[in-house]
Amino acid sequence: MTFKHIITSTPRTGVFQITLNRPKALNALNSALFTEILTALRKADSDIDQYGAVVITGGDRVFAAGADIKEMLPIDSAQAMSQDMLSNWKDFNSIGIPIIAAVEGYALGGGCELAMNCDIIYASNKAVFGQPEVKLGVIPGGGGTQRLIRAIGKSRAMEYIITGDNFSSIQAEQWGLVSKNFEPKTVIKNALDLAEKIAKGPRLTSRSCKKAINIANETNLQNGLDFERNIFHSLFGNYEQKEGMNAFVEKRKPKWSKL
Ligand code: CAA
Repeated sequence: MTFKHIITSTPRTGVFQITLNRPKALNALNSALFTEILTALRKADSDIDQYGAVVITGGDRVFAAGADIKEMLPIDSAQAMSQDMLSNWKDFNSIGIPIIAAVEGYALGGGCELAMNCDIIYASNKAVFGQPEVKLGVIPGGGGTQRLIRAIGKSRAMEYIITGDNFSSIQAEQWGLVSKNFEPKTVIKNALDLAEKIAKGPRLTSRSCKKAINIANETNLQNGLDFERNIFHSLFGNYEQKEGMNAFVEKRKPKWSKL
């Protein structure tokens, strides 16, 4: 599979890496680039024997500077509606494999939204986040208004989306958007370590964790608890449940399937 705007690799066993690669445009997410990300994610997602986790990263200076402003400039609302612009961002939700964003530098607009579409965000302590769309006369369109409020709360989401001001990675970690901060240029190593750890674990079970956690954003508590219990029940009898519980009882390390 060949791509123009991303580089894919397998830097560790079980880990699929997607590196955004439009450096001259600061990894601005034009529609071709975003389609490539989805294609690559589907490839990793469809091969549970090969892949247990994905890392998405950008460059040292920029993770991604947002949707491609030059591509969007000539569009009018009739075109935006008829193309159902950015509607393929929701396809991200159908990806079951855990995804880690490794963020160095700017993650602005669609770049911040791309990171928020991932399951875990690791970032440099010098990274910069923001939803500056208001300064372009639009609002976030890749999920920013919905995801930022869930991650950092209403008052902060309102402040930063309405002003378009950036916020630091340190703030992002304190507010719960970022899982961990690291020294610059060490983020990718730490993200790969985490991805490898996840990939070495029970892969069906980690996907089930992801599914159950994500449903919390989409339903009320009672329905979420019912959904969680259904997934919990469905895992009994499969190899990972038998191996994990047998290993505990036999006081040995589990040998996860096909590793
Ligand atoms: N779209 C298209 N091109 C972009 C871009 C973007 N989002 N961001 C940067 N570029 C291009 C610039 O036009 C410039 O190209 P040229 O060399 O051809 O002029 C090149 O990348 C370098 O950019 P700068 O000269 O601006 O670099 P800088 O270091 O001075 O600033 C920056 C870096 C602060 C990230 C600045 O580029 C910037 O503010 N970018 C735009 C950020 C933004 O507004 N993002 C939101 C986009 S809208 C969106 O994302 C909607 C959505 O919800 C999905």
